[in-house]
Amino acid sequence: MKCRIDRSNCKIFLNFGKMPIANGFLKKKDFKSEYFFNLSVGFNEKLSLFQLKSNPHPKKMFNKNYPFYTSSSKYMVKHFKKFAQWIKNNFTKNKNFKILEIGSNDGTFLNNFKNYFHVGIEPSLSVHKVALINKINSKNKFFDQTSLKKYIKKKVFFDVIVGSNVICHIPNQNELIRNVKKILKEDGVFIFEEPYLGAMYKKISYDQIYDEHIYMFSASSISKIFQRYNFHLIDAIPQITHGGSMRYIIKRKKNENEKNLVNIFNYENKKKLNKIESCIEFKSNCETSKKKILDKIKSIKEKGGSICGYAATSKSTTILNYCNIGTNYIDYICDTTKEKIGKFSPGMHIPIKDMDHFHNNMKDFVYLFAWNHKDEIFNKETNFKGKWISHVEL
Ligand code: TYD
Repeated sequence: MKCRIDRSNCKIFLNFGKMPIANGFLKKKDFKSEYFFNLSVGFNEKLSLFQLKSNPHPKKMFNKNYPFYTSSSKYMVKHFKKFAQWIKNNFTKNKNFKILEIGSNDGTFLNNFKNYFHVGIEPSLSVHKVALINKINSKNKFFDQTSLKKYIKKKVFFDVIVGSNVICHIPNQNELIRNVKKILKEDGVFIFEEPYLGAMYKKISYDQIYDEHIYMFSASSISKIFQRYNFHLIDAIPQITHGGSMRYIIKRKKNENEKNLVNIFNYENKKKLNKIESCIEFKSNCETSKKKILDKIKSIKEKGGSICGYAATSKSTTILNYCNIGTNYIDYICDTTKEKIGKFSPGMHIPIKDMDHFHNNMKDFVYLFAWNHKDEIFNKETNFKGKWISHVEL
């Protein structure tokens, strides 16, 4: 396979097989026409870049019924408030400050910038509509040449362009960077947070790999990708969100003080995040993890135990389909999202139930699919007296 960014050779090292759309929760009548693609992963050592071989067309993933709402986690709402405050403290010095968010979802982040000139670009109609209700200046579009035309023509340049858990969704990174360049002020910053390759390796959280996550970035890969366009990674700040993410800060000019960045590069070199060896080790860890969780589930069932799932995350689609876990093991998955309730999980077709159902039908074991929201969930589910399980350490 050729790297999506520089076309150099990219070794495929991991194949999860046939996968449905991770957020494609569906009705029974749609089972027969469900869409599948092959989920396999390659690594380009030249750019240190972990990437999917192929992905469904973005319009198949980010459609009018997209069911992921950023505001579904109270912790994430707080996180974005803090993130916004950090931007205000560091980057709002210019008069007529302007900010644009790529993939602004339901407006959770931009809600903190209502008093500033702000633009949210959001291709999924469902979440965009909520942003409009929240009085966010949201545009129901993909971040591309067409959606930016107006700003380019009127010479509107932004001080900050931001994206959270969305930059890795964009297949054509070359085009993305070129577009950012067109609308970013000369001294502007491009800031984004994405799940971190190093954290995924450490936790063996291979459920971070699904159709939307076309890339799994590291500081090394981001630095190399952006250098191709004369942009510089000036800082990288680890975040605990989504099980371990990284905030990347990109500018046209290099920074004087790169101490923090040097430490991160050293960590990545030490962990061989730039080498195919770490990928091969990860592959083997995924296989062991699969065996371990299946052994655990089978043993619970053999002893007559019952299991349900908690949170119908997009991540769970990879686990359930790769490990072949269906209603033979898990009776239902509960979730707070109204668009998911009453439907079935992609591929394995486990029913999705509401939280009342969970509270009235508690099982002996609960598989926590939103392990990244563990604290928030444990704090509110104190009535559950059974055992929580997951493929990652809880
Ligand atoms: P998350 O791990 O943020 O997302 P992803 O889909 O990207 O893997 O999980 C979001 C889902 O978890 C969403 O469907 C709502 C659900 N959820 C609950 O049901 N209860 C909760 O307390 C939380 C925090 C999330």
